[in-house]
Amino acid sequence: MRQNILLLGSGGREHALALKMRKSPLCGKLYIAPGNAGTSEVGSNVDLPLNDFEAIGSFCLSNHISMVVVGPEEPLVRGIYDFFAGNENLKHISVIGPSREGARLEGSKAYGKKFMAEKNIPTAAYREITDLSDGIRFLQSLKAPYVLKADGLAAGKGVVILNDLSEAEKELKAMLSGKFGEGNRTVVIEEFLSGIEFSVFVLTDGISYRVMPVAKDYKRVGENDTGLNTGGMGAISPVPFVTKSMMKKVEDRIIKPTIETLRNRKINYHGFIFIGLISVNNEPYVIEYNCRMGDPETEVVMPLLKTDLVKLFNKVSENKLSEIRVEKYNKTAATIMLVAGGYPGDYKKGDLIKIPEAINGDTTIYHAGTTRKDGKLITNGGRVLAITSLGEDINDARKKSGEIAKKISFDNKYFRADIGLDLLKKK
Ligand code: AMP
Ligand code: GLY
Repeated sequence: MRQNILLLGSGGREHALALKMRKSPLCGKLYIAPGNAGTSEVGSNVDLPLNDFEAIGSFCLSNHISMVVVGPEEPLVRGIYDFFAGNENLKHISVIGPSREGARLEGSKAYGKKFMAEKNIPTAAYREITDLSDGIRFLQSLKAPYVLKADGLAAGKGVVILNDLSEAEKELKAMLSGKFGEGNRTVVIEEFLSGIEFSVFVLTDGISYRVMPVAKDYKRVGENDTGLNTGGMGAISPVPFVTKSMMKKVEDRIIKPTIETLRNRKINYHGFIFIGLISVNNEPYVIEYNCRMGDPETEVVMPLLKTDLVKLFNKVSENKLSEIRVEKYNKTAATIMLVAGGYPGDYKKGDLIKIPEAINGDTTIYHAGTTRKDGKLITNGGRVLAITSLGEDINDARKKSGEIAKKISFDNKYFRADIGLDLLKKK
C-alpha cells in the first residue's frame, strides 16, 4: 500500500512538498534529488542530475519508485513526463507534472499567449516579435512602461520592464540578438497592466481541476516593493482582496477555459498549473502561466492544505481528480524568506546558520539554500530559509514569522520585515 516517491528539486518548495507528503499514510520511502539540509531530515537526499532522465529512470527502477513529483520547471519543459510515459519499463511510474507540450505554457511565452487567445482568456495585448523593425513599430504604438519578455526559459530573468522608449528599443535589440541564449531570440512585447498581483494554483488531471489556497508573493528585494526582482521574498495565503466574487471571475474566465483548451488540444497534464494573475480595477488578467508550484508560495499553500497530498496526486495520475475534494485549514499563513546579503546579485555561500532551539508549533522553518558540512548547517544559495507561521489572521501569522526571522542568524542575513503589511492597509 505504501508508495516509494521521488521528488525532484532542492528549494523551499520541495521541503514544503516533502513534509506534506511525509504526513501521508500512503508515503513509503521518500527520496529527494538533490534536496537540501531540510529535506534530508524528511527523506533521503539523492544526488541525481535533474536533466538526466536515464539516470532518474534507473534510480526509480532500483528503488521501486511508483511516483515522481517534479518541483522545478526545467525537467518538465525538457519532457520528463513523456520520457517516462514512452518507456516500456517506466510507464507504470506516475509523473506529477505536465507533458512537454503542457509545459510549453511556461516554456514559451508566445505559446502561452496563443493558448489564451483561443478562448479569449483575459491577458495583456501582445505581439510576438522576431524582427527588430517590426518590434520597434509595435513599441512605438504602446504607452510606457514597456514590457519585453524573452520567449523561452531564462532563469527567471527574462522579463524586462522599461520606462524609456529608446531603452526598450535597445533591450529589444539585445534580446533579439540572443541576450538570453542563442535559442531564445523570440520576444513577446506586451501592454503594461497596472494592478495588484496574486497567484492561483490549480491541480489538474487534464480533465477536472481543484483550486489550492490562493497566495500573494513579494517579488522585489526591498521593502515597499522596491529594488530588483527576486524569486520571491515572502508570501501570504489566503489573500483578503481575492474575494469569492473575484475567484468566481477567475474560475469562469480563466481556469475553466484553460482546462477546456488543454482537453481540446488533448494535452496530457497531470500536475499543477500556477496562474500568475493581476487584478486591474477588480478584473483578473493572466500575467503568465507556470507549469509547477511557486516558490515561496508553496511554503504557505502546503501548510494550509488539509487533504492528503499523496492521495491527491494518486487521483491526478488515475484521472480521477473529480472524486476528491480539497480541504483547507481555516487559518492564515505567512512566510518570510531569509536571504544571503547581496541576493539577487552576488552573494556568499558557506556561512554557518544558527537556529534557536525552541520554535513555536505554529512555525515551520523550510530550508531553501542550505546544506551540511562536517555536520554543521551552512548557507548554500541566495534564498536560505523560508519561515512560515500559521495564525488567526495576517497580523498574527506575519508577527510570528518575523520574530523567528530575527532570531535566526547567519552572516549578512537579510529579510523583508514588511511581508503582508500592504494587505492589512487594504482592508
Ligand atoms: P515573470 O518573471 O514572468 O514572473 O514576470 C515578472 C514580473 O513582471 C511579473 O510578476 C509582473 O510583476 C511583471 N509583469 C509581467 N508582465 C506584465 C505586464 N503585462 N504588465 C505589468 N507587469 C508585468
Ligand atoms: N514565486 C514565483 C515563482 O515561483 O515563480
